[in-house]
Amino acid sequence: MRGTDSSSVVLIATPEDVVRARQAGRMAAAALGLGLADQTRLATAISEIARNALHYGGGGRCEISACQEEGHHRITVQVTDHGPGIPEIERAMSPGFSTGNSLGMGLPGAAKLVDSLAIESRPGLTQVTLAMRRKAR
Ligand SMILES: Nc1ncnc2c1ncn2[C@@H]1O[C@H](COP(=O)(O)OP(=O)(O)OP(=O)(O)O)[C@@H](O)[C@H]1O
Ligand SMILES: [Mg+2]
Repeated sequence: MRGTDSSSVVLIATPEDVVRARQAGRMAAAALGLGLADQTRLATAISEIARNALHYGGGGRCEISACQEEGHHRITVQVTDHGPGIPEIERAMSPGFSTGNSLGMGLPGAAKLVDSLAIESRPGLTQVTLAMRRKAR
């Protein structure tokens, strides 16, 4: 880590914690000088993934890291839970798929809002990693 790099962790155990994770994402984006639209994109994506960690994973943690690379700012968000896992990641990523009798738009929607969304999942450990990279101004 460099002096300008930073990271913060929000533990997710209640719906209020999901709001906290959302706000932490917005603040991290704002601190790097990202505009309102990008702040909202990142915050919304984090909110969906954190909501899944709470609902399907029984809670977890959200770590937001910011770093500088080659004239760019990069924000990486890792949401981890220790629930049953996502057995079919490809299906889970497709719009409209839900085992929770919901819209099934959280994961595919979040993926569109950020530059990358990667899922690693097995029983007992699910990690969803989001990243957003923007030119430093
Ligand atoms: N952390 C997780 N652990 C286990 N399963 C998950 C997790 N996150 C997502 N899933 C699975 O992937 C499906 C799709 O997730 P997604 O967020 O896209 O939709 P949803 O949560 O069902 O509905 P919505 O988010 O639109 O209210 C979920 O229904 C669930 O089966
Ligand atoms: Mg969801």
